[in-house]
This record gives sequence, structure tokens and C-alpha cells, in this order.
Amino acid sequence: MSTGGFPGRPVRPGDRLRPVPGTSGSLLVDNIGELVTNEGRPGDPLGIRRGAALLVEDGQVAWVGSSRDAPAADRRTDAGGAAVLPGFVDSHAHLVFAGDRAAEFAARMAGEPYTGGGIRTTVGATRAASDGDLRATVGRLRAEMLRQGTTTVEIKSGYGLNVADEARSLRIAAEFTEDTTFLGAHVVPAEYADRPDDYVGMVCGPMLAAAAPYARWIDVFCERGAFDADHARAILACGQAVGLGVRVHANQLGPGPGVQLGVELGAASVDHCTHLTDADIDALASRRIDCMCAEGEHTVTVATLLPGAEFSTRSPYPDARRLLDAGVTVALATDCNPGSSYTSSMPFCIALAVREMRMTPAEAVWAATAGGAAALRRTDVGRLTPGARADLIILDAPSHLHLAYRPGVPLIRQVLHNGVPR
Ligand code: NIG
Ligand code: FE
Repeated sequence: MSTGGFPGRPVRPGDRLRPVPGTSGSLLVDNIGELVTNEGRPGDPLGIRRGAALLVEDGQVAWVGSSRDAPAADRRTDAGGAAVLPGFVDSHAHLVFAGDRAAEFAARMAGEPYTGGGIRTTVGATRAASDGDLRATVGRLRAEMLRQGTTTVEIKSGYGLNVADEARSLRIAAEFTEDTTFLGAHVVPAEYADRPDDYVGMVCGPMLAAAAPYARWIDVFCERGAFDADHARAILACGQAVGLGVRVHANQLGPGPGVQLGVELGAASVDHCTHLTDADIDALASRRIDCMCAEGEHTVTVATLLPGAEFSTRSPYPDARRLLDAGVTVALATDCNPGSSYTSSMPFCIALAVREMRMTPAEAVWAATAGGAAALRRTDVGRLTPGARADLIILDAPSHLHLAYRPGVPLIRQVLHNGVPR
């Protein structure tokens, strides 16, 4: 079966993407009450080990086992019987923007619907902002995420919507992550309102040429009022032709063609999935891929659910159970953006997924770690097994259950990113 849509070689365990200063020497994280490895054993996707220790060397997990058998190390951190998890993988975020839409949120809470129309407000503010302002916003949100346990984040453009501002959005995003996504097809900007075909031509031509050097992925908002199936297919195909992997904003505001288009193109992820038909679920479930990871296989296209958006737009939540029961690989992400979901908190999304989408706490934690990694086609993050990046969270709690059991409580005691305490 064709797996389509791989952007170059997938990132694998053992890859050193960026050497990080200060990662030399070994560190033993010891006395771990509950270690979530995501090793993917049958019946236990979280691969939980109790009374565990984990050795970090050169920014990677070098060894995992029982505390009793722990090897010697240069330094030691005592987890004090707490839970240790892989750092969260937030596979969907729009961090390059300027301005604030709190008034739009307040209007929604007073009964106004969310339509996506506010995107143009953010486009105006983003175009007017300096590089320094945009970089400061991304840096502030990235730091906020790290404090809440997110060690990998995907960052989209999509508030520039002209050649120069899309390119600079991605250039700035690339300073913070390897997973940058070109979303020039977020909406048709006002100056092209009566010429959408011309805008699509521009996205596929000069805008893609300027954006592609800084992007790993291409994304389209495929929705009534944004881009229809024909425009979305054309744009995604142009991106694929220059080596970008595909992701789609799909079926957020109503049923539509986005999910099935994503599956057809071998997208790594279709995101939102709030309104799904049986045919959408069948399409997602029908194509599977060897993931080169412990679970053996995933669906080619991951369904990425963004419950912060439903919370913030007072919309019905996606039916996660229907997807999971059909065998679809599910990820959770924040969708952090100034309009529909201004949260940077993966723990908040886990709590929403459990309470509002009837995911089990284990399913939600898996979706926020290994699921996010699958949505980014990465096997070097989202798990704590030898060779993975030493990205981990020490909780102020004895088990992963507390992430949903104690919503809104800052439970992230310590974060290690590339083996370095942050
Ligand atoms: O994923 N739906 C499209 N894009 C964003 C919202 C953007 C905005 O409202 O500014 C989303 O929800
Ligand atoms: Fe989004």
C-alpha cells in the first residue's frame, strides 16, 4: 500500500536534530513511581513500569528499567515516587500572530457563533507587527508550553497570507521547531475576496516558493467559507510536489470533504474532525501504515482532536470514542491560536478529552504524547524508550490519572528537554 505524504525521511530514534549544549554526561532519573514509556504492549498502550529508573545520555534515553538495577550515572534526580511521562507533543498550534481577540471570545460566550471570520483581524495585526514582536510572541507561548510539559510543538503560518508575511512567519517559526507548517490557505484574504482562483494560484506559485524552504508541512483550512475540496486538493498537491507533507484542517464547522481528501492524499493528520460521517471514519480506518514503532501500525492519517477549540467556541465535542472504536489513531493538540482556542495547555486538553469526549485517561495521555508524534510522523519523541529523545515530565502526582483527575492544577514539577532540565 502506498503510504504517500512522507515529507522526506521521517525523524527516527537516534537522530540528533540539533546538538544541545549542556547535555554531556549521564543523568539517572530514579525512584519513579509510575513510568509511562508508551512501549505499546498489548492491553497496555502506555507501557507503564513501576519502581522504575531511566538513564539519560547525550540528550537521549539510554536505558530504562527497575530502580534496583539502575546503572551508575554522573548525576541523579530523585523523582520521589512520582509519575514520569514523555513530554507532550503538541502537533497543532498557530503561534505566529499579533493582536488579541478576547472581545470576540466574550461575544461568543454571550451567544455569537464562531465562523472563522476573525482570522482576517489577526491577519491585519500580524502584517503590521515587527519581526521582533512576532518572535517575542512565539517565544512567550513556547515557554508557556514548556512549563506545562510540551517538549515538541508544530507551528503553522497562516496569519500573513501574502508572500512576504507567510515567509517571515515560517522563518520565525523555524527558529523554534523542526515541525513548521505552511498554511497560506487559511482563508482568502480581503484583497483577493472576489478572486479566490487567483489567490490559490498565488499560494501554489510565489507564496509556496518563498515558504517551502522553511516548512516541513503544508496545511489547508478545507471548510465552507475557506477553501473547497478542489482548491484544497490543488494546494496540497503543489506542496507535495515540492516535498512537503500534508495535514488538513477538516470538518471543524460542519461535515465536509476535508477528512476524505486528507486520506486520499495520504495526509499525516486531519485536524478538528468535529463533524464526521460514517464514510469519513471508514476512510480513516481503512488505510494503515507500519509506524516503525512499538505499536506496530497506525492509521496512515491520524485524527487530531482539538478540544480547546470546542471549549472556546462553545461547540459540540468530536466523538473520540467512535474514532477509537473504529481503530483510528487519535492525537490530541491545543490548536493554540488567538481566535478559536487560546490555550497552550496540553493538560487542559487531556482533561477535556476525558471529561467531554469520553476518552480514558490512558487514551488521552497516549494521544497527547505518542499520538502527537504519530501525527508528525516522528518516532524520536512521544515515548521513553532507549534511543528516544530525553524529553520527559516529572509530575507532582503519583500517576498519569491525575492529569484529568485534578484539572486546572499545575502538576508539572519538572521538564527535561533533550535531557536538559528546563
Ligand atoms: O484551527 N479553523 C481554522 N483555523 C484556526 C482558527 C483560527 C482563528 O480563528 O484565528 C483553528 O481553529
Ligand atoms: Fe488550527
